[in-house]
Amino acid sequence: MTAPGPQAPPASVEDYRHAARLRLGDDRVWDFIEGGAETERTVAANRRAFGRVTLRPRVLVDVSHCRTGTEVLGSRLGTPLGVAPTAYHRLAHPEGEVATARGAGAAGALYVVSIYASRTLEDIAAAATGPLWIQVYWLRRREVLAGLVARAAAAGCRAVVLTVDAPRLGRRHRDARNGFALGPGIRAANLDPAETASAHRSGAGRSALAAHAAEAVDPSVTWSDLAWLRARSDLPLVLKGILTAEDAALAVRHGADAVIVSNHGGRQLDGAAASLDALAEVADAVGDACPVLFDGGVRGGTDAFAALALGARAVLLGRPVLWGLAADGAAGVAAVLDLATEELAHTMALTGRPDLASIDRSAAVLRTEA
Ligand code: FNR
Ligand code: LAC
Repeated sequence: MTAPGPQAPPASVEDYRHAARLRLGDDRVWDFIEGGAETERTVAANRRAFGRVTLRPRVLVDVSHCRTGTEVLGSRLGTPLGVAPTAYHRLAHPEGEVATARGAGAAGALYVVSIYASRTLEDIAAAATGPLWIQVYWLRRREVLAGLVARAAAAGCRAVVLTVDAPRLGRRHRDARNGFALGPGIRAANLDPAETASAHRSGAGRSALAAHAAEAVDPSVTWSDLAWLRARSDLPLVLKGILTAEDAALAVRHGADAVIVSNHGGRQLDGAAASLDALAEVADAVGDACPVLFDGGVRGGTDAFAALALGARAVLLGRPVLWGLAADGAAGVAAVLDLATEELAHTMALTGRPDLASIDRSAAVLRTEA
């Protein structure tokens, strides 16, 4: 694919990547956003998997109206595309998560706010016009975790997403080489500064974010601990980072209200399956017990269509939202989500699936990697 010149208006989500690259002056920030764990083969696998999808169009269906509206855990959405939780949006744009919330709201999209948001939950909620969920890691200091969840609920967040694929942070060679650390102006705005100091302490050959996660996140948590969190919040509990039928079954058994099939954008376990390759397995194991969401490598509406066909109720975008944010703030976030949603509606028309319920397994085939 040829890259557009800097002046060309973006025609695809990928074009926002080029726009963001031009805007973001700091290579270390670019590496943090784009990079993954170790050899980055899982990052690559996420994208490659979409190239193995073939769609099965049906014809002579009335597609004069293609409806992308849906509902997930009581949140009504204009689009099944949403914002995956990603850390420190002020690295990409001075307004940070407040701009993301405005953009997601304008697009009718779900926004999952990261525990590492660089704006306060209250400021984000004040800017939001659509549903917010809060993503957390299991902190060693459980009272801080419980307090954060309560604060998120008070601010209006409608679900808690516990990310379960990061008992340690992935080994990200780019960040280690860059000695990546947060500058003084950008911080985890919803955590105590005294407890996040290590995220700002640069060291040669190591990522300060990995050092901070090692300090703050409890790697001893198991399935039986989930009840503790449940008892402290009435919000639905969503588990993010499920990649196998075994864990999908355990998630259901432990009462998860939804699961997110995700390998963290290839940033955690290098060598993990492409997210798309894990989706049908998880969806089959979950059955009708709860909704299955998906993220990893989605770069447009056709990718989203494939994930919906293979069993996802909603599809989240990580890096593309950061590209839109870096390129053009709230308007860029809305533009990325709107563009992908338009592409989805277009694919729905050309496949003869005018609503989301009609996008079933018969709509796509995912070949296995040769
Ligand atoms: C992430 N991701 C992530 N996940 C999470 O649960 N909490 C977090 O704070 C972050 N932070 C984060 C930062 C950055 C810069 C990226 C790129 C990703 C993972 C994210 O939620 C999602 O799983 C992936 O980004 C999805 O893959 P794509 O869409 O980026 O390919
Ligand atoms: C990341 C962490 C913060 O992926 O989740 O960078």
